[in-house]
Amino acid sequence: MTKDQFETTLIHGAFGVDGSTGALTAPIYQTATYRQFELGVEQPFDYSRAGNPTRRVLEQQIALLEEGHSGYAFASGMAAITAVLFLFGGGDEILIPCDLYGGSFRLLNTHFKNFGVTWRIVDTTDPVALEAAFSANTKAVLLETPTNPTLQVSDIAEVARIAHRHGALVIADNTFLSPYLQRPLALGADIVVHSATKYIGGHNDVLAGLVVVKTPDLAERLLLIQKSSGGVLGPFDCYLLLRGLKTLAIRMDREVESATVIAHWLKDHSNVDRVFYPGLESDRGYAVQTRQASGAGGLLSFELNEACSLPAFFSAMRVITLAESLGSVESMACHPATMSHASLSPEMRAQMGISDRLVRLAIGLEGIESLKEDLEGAFAAAVAKIAGKGD
Ligand SMILES: Cc1ncc(COP(=O)(O)O)c(C=O)c1O
Repeated sequence: MTKDQFETTLIHGAFGVDGSTGALTAPIYQTATYRQFELGVEQPFDYSRAGNPTRRVLEQQIALLEEGHSGYAFASGMAAITAVLFLFGGGDEILIPCDLYGGSFRLLNTHFKNFGVTWRIVDTTDPVALEAAFSANTKAVLLETPTNPTLQVSDIAEVARIAHRHGALVIADNTFLSPYLQRPLALGADIVVHSATKYIGGHNDVLAGLVVVKTPDLAERLLLIQKSSGGVLGPFDCYLLLRGLKTLAIRMDREVESATVIAHWLKDHSNVDRVFYPGLESDRGYAVQTRQASGAGGLLSFELNEACSLPAFFSAMRVITLAESLGSVESMACHPATMSHASLSPEMRAQMGISDRLVRLAIGLEGIESLKEDLEGAFAAAVAKIAGKGD
């Protein structure tokens, strides 16, 4: 699908016009059940856990946008990932990158472990290491690219070639780029998952998860899992995602543009030791990122140097909010070592490249000069604090 077709699908995709009223917006069918008109005659909808018309529009829309067979909407990103992991059972092994989202790691390590599903960490950016990691029990690679917070890039097509040779599935968590910038199914992945709480919703007002599968066989299995496990997304939240999706392209264009400017600016900043952003030509993942995605996203990380006080840096920001999330209209900053990755041991964080001085930024839609001024003010306060001139 071209960029132009994608942008038009965002506006006119799965829902055209409501046939009975002419409404341009998909109605919110706030109902748990449906009248059955005749005993024993199947209807499109009978109970909202199994299917709801508002949810159906959203599920069809995300399937169109990810170029998949069908989509499924869940009450959170974690509910979506849980549903996907229900495809596996005792004795199955899943390969994961070392900086997999902490919630996905916890799910595997504390819950799916009880069902006999095992996991193994592998450097998914390195095809040789990945190839060597497969065993007879490996049934899937759970991929994030780029990863968070160190923005490591894996070659989705290469990962899929290797996994498929071993008869394993590739599950791509596409939260950080959205289908506007990267479409993993077209690159060879089998399943896409999203924390739709982030760029898909885009306004920090809904918690949601989405799954898209590539084949009819996977579609049938996911549908049954969704109906059986029941963590579905409510109709109003489906509406919020449908509304958020309409502006996905323009939001992401702006966020990528601002993140690129800020990454270049930070790279030359005297108080920054290192910048992680795959949109920088100097970044290790730049070539693959540029080949497989149409932008590097709105997330970037950097290491503050020793001349700066970390607490003072975060306290001084007035426009950028200290918060855990990303992908919203508001820019947010977080300190992975004490926030998103606090549950990991210092050794594990070090292995992932997450230093105590790492700051992650999720760029939103504020004016670029306001963002730069805010960061410059934070750097100044952080330096003054160390120099003994701050509050
Ligand atoms: C990559 C990724 N996947 C999944 C999730 C979980 O999503 P949610 O918070 O919507 O349950 C998150 C949350 O931050 C995430 O960053």
